[in-house]
Amino acid sequence: MTVARLAIFSDVHANLEALEAVFRDLDHQHVDRVLHLGDVVGYNASPCEVIDLLMERNVHGVQGNHDVAALDLDLAEGFNMLAYHAILYTRQQLDAHHVEYLSGLPFSLLLEGQFLLFHGSLESVNTYIANMYQAKRAFNFMRRQLPFVRIAFFGHTHVPKVWSRNSQGKIRALPLTKEPIILRSDEMYLINPGSVGQPRQKDSRAHYLIVDIDAMTVQFRSVEYNITLAQAKILRAKLPEFLATRLAEGI
Ligand SMILES: [Fe+2]
Repeated sequence: MTVARLAIFSDVHANLEALEAVFRDLDHQHVDRVLHLGDVVGYNASPCEVIDLLMERNVHGVQGNHDVAALDLDLAEGFNMLAYHAILYTRQQLDAHHVEYLSGLPFSLLLEGQFLLFHGSLESVNTYIANMYQAKRAFNFMRRQLPFVRIAFFGHTHVPKVWSRNSQGKIRALPLTKEPIILRSDEMYLINPGSVGQPRQKDSRAHYLIVDIDAMTVQFRSVEYNITLAQAKILRAKLPEFLATRLAEGI
């Protein structure tokens, strides 16, 4: 099947209500394939339901730092108390088939021979691309390791972003618009769709991205969801209260 339109999202973090809202929106977007950039679990209360929905919708993706920590607690060593608490909860919830789904996620994915997907950076699931210097390092790493790749998608920061690198090596963050952003054929891009389940740019909606391969555009989309219900589940699961309050603030 030729893939013309892709949906890409990241950092669902066990937020079922946010993921369901994204799928409701996606049902009107005529996409051929849906992919995620890791951190399926962690922080919020519905890891099993989220994995079941991803499996039902045939959504493949890459591993995030919370996904690998849910499989091996030693990898949660650097986590803060909130994240650590949620990983302990997640590990209690998961059944064998959930573990199998998380274990099957690769570190990175190459799509259509031209799009690269990873969670943090190409160096590790824990590395952030959050500023100009980190973007420069990531572009350089990509140019050395995978010189045929021009466009990569990443998550981990929970903040939507498009970094571009022109042929002179100049790096800049593009202004994010509601309209599709045109990707030039002579530039490289590092693109972050933001987070579905725990956005941190003070916009509490669930965020994702549509890639139109024929038009070579990316379009950021944001959808409202039932935050109150997601919060109630967090409190019912006896997870730290701040994990509930932060959802409403988008932090
Ligand atoms: Fe995350």
